[in-house]
Amino acid sequence: MIKFLTDLSDGEYFGKIALVRVDFNVSIINGNIGEDYRIRMSIPTIDYLIKRKCKVILISHLGRPKDKSLKYSLFPVSVRLSEILKTNIKFVNDCIGLDVKKSVDNLNPSEILLLENLRFHKEEELNDPEFSKQLASLADIYINDAFSTSHRKHSSTYGAATLFDTKLGGFNLKKEIDYMTMIKSNPIRPFLVVIGGVKIKDKIGAMENLLPKADKILIGGAAAYTFLKAKGKKIGNSPIDVEHLEWAKRSLDRYNDKIVLPIDHLVSKSPDSDSAIICKDDIPDGMFGYDIGSETIQNYSNQIGSNKNGSIFWNGPMGFFEKDIFANGTINIAKSMALAYWRGAKTLIGGGDTLAAMKKSGVSESEVSHVSTGGGATLRYLAGDKMPGLIILE
Ligand code: ADP
Ligand code: 3PG
Ligand code: MG
Repeated sequence: MIKFLTDLSDGEYFGKIALVRVDFNVSIINGNIGEDYRIRMSIPTIDYLIKRKCKVILISHLGRPKDKSLKYSLFPVSVRLSEILKTNIKFVNDCIGLDVKKSVDNLNPSEILLLENLRFHKEEELNDPEFSKQLASLADIYINDAFSTSHRKHSSTYGAATLFDTKLGGFNLKKEIDYMTMIKSNPIRPFLVVIGGVKIKDKIGAMENLLPKADKILIGGAAAYTFLKAKGKKIGNSPIDVEHLEWAKRSLDRYNDKIVLPIDHLVSKSPDSDSAIICKDDIPDGMFGYDIGSETIQNYSNQIGSNKNGSIFWNGPMGFFEKDIFANGTINIAKSMALAYWRGAKTLIGGGDTLAAMKKSGVSESEVSHVSTGGGATLRYLAGDKMPGLIILE
């Protein structure tokens, strides 16, 4: 059983040093933070700790750096965090070593110190025992609030955690687990799954687990073409995942009554084209499907919007939404998700591009029951894969 923050008494935090693994892997362009959702989701845990006079050390990775390039520095995150929390977040430009030790020694209760990108040391991803030891030596208790990195067996998510007697899950981690477990094991019915995007390979495990539980699974985006091809439909030159055609065929045989595929498509000669036409059923050779068509939009939107007593999980845009002329399907699905939420459904959205699509559609996080911070981690969790960062907390 994972212990969470509230499993310790307030007194047990007093004056202690907490090493908190967060996921501040956000997009930073020229020092400006693009989407700060992951940062905001870490606030309840940080707030809880500082109110209990804990000294807080935050650790995270950012991107996949090959060297210590400034563009992978977490410094801009300390600035954003200071703005959100209205307090000065201290920052030190390494995550182990003498300077870090000194900064930790100088921390007062309720102060917060953010360490530099863990991946500036290659030992982090190698789960190196010595590096883990150095991280662990900084603090008294370990907290993981980074669900979205818990599928990685790295020093900060695993090795360092093994060295603490007290290891806890943070509030964001708990929220993610609670929602994902609900849909994985006991979804509120009717349970609709909406899958789109391109990365079939990454989604198969999750789909295999969700198919038996779902009442309906609506498929759109590029993912739909693999299924349509498996069904013997003409899909023109739309991209398919050849490796998973057989799997798609088997799923269709087994779950024929559950899997819903597009009945029309918005097709075009190239992704750069500014003209597109609706194709019913078959897509001619030389054409690509870049969005679901208007009848499909209506059908999917109705099913989602009317599922007011149930739950809905959506991962993957319905088309090449980054381009406005192919964004209509995705925008309508996002709006129907919001409508279902307002009518009472439990709605969940996962996936980096899906979150971007939701924002582009003008739907805010407050119009969704839960937006997962995880991309890969969410799919792996739903697939039932082992998550080292969670196992070590158990
Ligand atoms: P997520 O990150 O939400 O899990 P994916 O990474 O699987 O989603 O897929 C997102 C990408 O899929 C987006 O960049 C989108 O443009 C693309 N996409 C979806 N449908 C199509 C399509 N029909 N043709 C081309 N690209 C598509
Ligand atoms: C993510 O963005 O999915 C997490 O932060 C994990 O990042 P990674 O895939 O580089 O390990
Ligand atoms: Mg993606």
